[in-house]
Amino acid sequence: MNFLTRKVLELKNIRKVYDNGVVANDGIDLTLNQSEIHAIVGENGAGKSTLMNIVFGEIKPTAGTILLRGEQVYFGSPKQAIEKGIGMVHQHFKLVDSLTVAHNIFLGIEPKKAGFIDKNKMIRLTSELAEKYKFRIDPEALVRDISVGEKQKVEILKVLARGAEILILDEPTAVLTPQETEELFTELRTFKETGYSIIFISHKLNEVKSISDKITVIRKGKTLGTYDGSELSESELSNLMVGREVVRSFDKVLVEKGEVVLDIHNLKLVNDFGKKKLNNFNLSLNRGVILGVAGVEGNGQDDLVKCICGLNKEYSGEILICNRDIKKLGISEIRDLGVAHIPEDRMTDGLH
Ligand SMILES: Nc1ncnc2c1ncn2[C@@H]1O[C@H](COP(=O)(O)OP(=O)(O)OP(=O)(O)O)[C@@H](O)[C@H]1O
Ligand SMILES: [Mg+2]
Repeated sequence: MNFLTRKVLELKNIRKVYDNGVVANDGIDLTLNQSEIHAIVGENGAGKSTLMNIVFGEIKPTAGTILLRGEQVYFGSPKQAIEKGIGMVHQHFKLVDSLTVAHNIFLGIEPKKAGFIDKNKMIRLTSELAEKYKFRIDPEALVRDISVGEKQKVEILKVLARGAEILILDEPTAVLTPQETEELFTELRTFKETGYSIIFISHKLNEVKSISDKITVIRKGKTLGTYDGSELSESELSNLMVGREVVRSFDKVLVEKGEVVLDIHNLKLVNDFGKKKLNNFNLSLNRGVILGVAGVEGNGQDDLVKCICGLNKEYSGEILICNRDIKKLGISEIRDLGVAHIPEDRMTDGLH
């Protein structure tokens, strides 16, 4: 059967104006076909998450039409979207750390026996689901003890356990190692072959090109177009996303390396459960140097930034800025030493 000709989801002229006047979606059109992996790309703030939250019933659109298998639908809540077979895995996971993998998957729809949660059945159903989709996961492990990649599998299985046929994945690879990303892509291809339809948001254009059948480009809340996965090169895509030629190479100016301005010795940080978040981290930064810290999201970089800015002082070890131990300093004194911080999420953390 040729799935590709069947439209499963059509978004027509979707508009969203938030209460603060921000026009996040300004007439977006998108068509998702059966058994298709469809990427949505766009710069930060282009309106991708807003659009997906509208499809998932989390946000009400200001205007526009959603057709599901040809029929107009209104979703007042995610519950209604789930009932119609739409599942979403958010940019930030929504799991309960203290519960098992199996319980997270069946949270709210737990199988019961004599009025009590049937744990054995939950574990068995989880194993069956995992086996069906070739997911490697321990149903009895506590979510707080599993890796970020495994947490994502739990989120996906949670959506599948609720009968989703359309999967929306918002930035699924941001938190994954390259190996985990490969594993996810293999899983997505399996879903596709089984007849699932997938919307996939990503900033990583090489990944988008390798996995997608279709790519829709969004800029400033507007659809620029939908293209075949192989139709445009990475640089053509990024030029479309930002609306001008993207310069990909810079001339490095040679700068004389100055004195050490940031010195971190044996930085250690543990979470509430005693799990290590930073373990003997050392770093030294000289004046005039740009230092990159590379790592997959969730591996401590966020905590590192909080410690350097004085937002978290629960660490052991030492952070010296211009030779001063910042543990003894207030946030404004640290700022006076010349430290500034542009947070990842400016909406929630932008006031520090
Ligand atoms: N709850 C909200 N209230 C007001 N404005 C919002 C809200 N959520 C998002 N916005 C704004 O709407 C615009 C679109 O945001 P959205 O999160 O949809 O973008 P995005 O394409 O998903 O970005 P990113 O790539 O950073 O995830 C941005 O200007 C954002 O600041
Ligand atoms: Mg987003």
